[in-house]
Amino acid sequence: MAESMKGLKRTHRCTEVSGANIGQEVTVMGWVQRRRNLGSLIFIDLRDRSGLLQIVFDEPKVGAEGFAKAETLRNEFVIAVTGTIEKRSAAVNENLKTGDIEVIAEDVRILSESETPPFPIEENSQTKEDVRLRYRYLDLRRPDLQRNLMMKSRVSMLLRNFMEKEGFLEIETPMLTKSTPEGARDYLVPSRVHPGSFYALPQSPQLFKQLLMCSGYDRYFQIARCFRDEDLRADRQPEFTQADMELSFVDVDDVIEVNERLLQYVFKEAIGVEVSLPIPRMTWQEAMDRYGSDKPDTRFGMELTDVSKVVEGCGFGVFTGALENGGSVRGINAKGQGDMPRKKIDKLVEFAKGYGAKGLAYLSVNADGTYKSSFAKFMSQEQLQALVAAMGGEPGDLLLFAADRNKVVWDVLGALRLELARELGLLDKNQYNFLWVTEFPLLEWSEEENRFMAMHHPFTMPMEEDWDKIDTDPGAVRAKAYDIVLNGTELGGGSVRIHQNHIQEKMLEVLGFTRESAYEQFGFLLNAFKYGVPPHAGLAYGLDRMVMLMVQADSIRDVIAFPKVKDASCLMTDAPSMVSDKQLEELSLSIAKNDENKEKNIEA
Ligand code: AMO
Ligand code: AMP
Repeated sequence: MAESMKGLKRTHRCTEVSGANIGQEVTVMGWVQRRRNLGSLIFIDLRDRSGLLQIVFDEPKVGAEGFAKAETLRNEFVIAVTGTIEKRSAAVNENLKTGDIEVIAEDVRILSESETPPFPIEENSQTKEDVRLRYRYLDLRRPDLQRNLMMKSRVSMLLRNFMEKEGFLEIETPMLTKSTPEGARDYLVPSRVHPGSFYALPQSPQLFKQLLMCSGYDRYFQIARCFRDEDLRADRQPEFTQADMELSFVDVDDVIEVNERLLQYVFKEAIGVEVSLPIPRMTWQEAMDRYGSDKPDTRFGMELTDVSKVVEGCGFGVFTGALENGGSVRGINAKGQGDMPRKKIDKLVEFAKGYGAKGLAYLSVNADGTYKSSFAKFMSQEQLQALVAAMGGEPGDLLLFAADRNKVVWDVLGALRLELARELGLLDKNQYNFLWVTEFPLLEWSEEENRFMAMHHPFTMPMEEDWDKIDTDPGAVRAKAYDIVLNGTELGGGSVRIHQNHIQEKMLEVLGFTRESAYEQFGFLLNAFKYGVPPHAGLAYGLDRMVMLMVQADSIRDVIAFPKVKDASCLMTDAPSMVSDKQLEELSLSIAKNDENKEKNIEA
């Protein structure tokens, strides 16, 4: 039977007691991790969010009634124990913070009983994730998840501390709003009062934070929930949290400067990692050329080499064909992997095809200086030698080449480089390599839409020196946009914003907006800019991603209390779910297609 808290007060969390408390009476409360009966003694490991503490029930100390209660305890019962801290009578448990002490129980209450949980509550659970997510409230009892969420709370606190000291104001922006321009699909909320009208949940506070700059708030900050209906991955959720900021009267360097100090402070205080400043910077172009990625992992080398010039006019049609079509031929050198078995190379070829490659050409340099290669027969010995030399190839090396449009070549080799690093164990989880990637292209050609799209968003400022190319060569205009990258993950991104009307109008025109459509979508912003707008810029971090990297979790789900799975559903609540006809009617909605077969795809 569940007893009450009447007259009871917790004095300590389980691991807040130590050798310093020996002889003291304490009252601790928590969950039964485990019970062991040793004849006349019963041992309980008691768990709360701080950790474990051993409780000893000895009949002469706890009384017959207390001892009888202790005999009924099972895993996950919630109990309160009052007793005295003693030095452990048996061997010290080095693995426990409280491994040298125990509580000799004098009184016990069973606050709540528990059914047998569907899986053991333990660190590094072997239980399948879908089961754990269905019982997320039990999963969240596990120490690893508890540590992750405690870290997230701490990081939020540190961010707020820092921002407050730097003069930022925390201001909330609406959740029920209009579509924002981050480029994913919106989650919509139907309006009851305005039949047929919808709010959009914000993809970010972007437009509102810019308006706050117009309103003179100067430095804004918010830990903001964002919603994006896009394909989920290990580092993406449909709702996630940004640490979002905007500053007035600043340029790129000012934003970078304050954020470098922010990162240094937060990483030091949260996980003791020293971030040395300044954080290196690399232009987007250099990042693509050297790493095939706009978020390069710089913890290892294996950089890309452009060998287009070297293979020009060679006999290998795959290479020359790509060059003739305006593409390039680039390679990476997997040092010392020259004896990789054919089967493994074939796997790499398949991997490359997954990233859009038509194939992957390879060459290994044998110990005697001869070559084993998928294309050697198409090239002269001199051409091969020149190629190997350009790649810095030495005996024992494996050279891998992709030939295609630049974008495909970068994607393929960028991904391959990471895949090889994973396989070869080149990624040190304890190394934190930060990098600013700057000077992103302003626009990106969309094959799907057959027009230019904003690479960051339509309010991003072009670089002054490129603006004259906006009509003649829009793809070559660079933006005052920057991303902060950590170990190959995009931790955050931002830009200087356009604050001049004529540039904004031109930009919207290039993006294919008519004046009407622009005003329909962002009229409130364009109008606001007519009344005196300060130059402004900002940045937003993915807070979940930041914490994920800090706690070295493999998935963003491990740092979100109640995450969604790959099909954007919640296995615990079963959201999204059907609503009643009455609700639909109130909202003036009817369901056109009703897919009965709602199979859930819960793979990560
Ligand atoms: P951006 O779209 O780059 O910029 O988003 C900023 C950061 O948010 C994180 N992020 C995500 N995290 C988890 N799940 C997702 N689905 C997801 N999408 C993005 C990333 C990313 O770097 N308004 C601009 C910022 C600005 O210009 O100030 C914006 O939202 O870590
Ligand atoms: P093929 O002549 O198609 O048999 O290709 C010869 C070699 O070139 C094979 O190893 C292919 O995998 C490789 N290959 C084919 N297309 C490409 C490409 N676009 N880039 C790099 N290698 C390729």
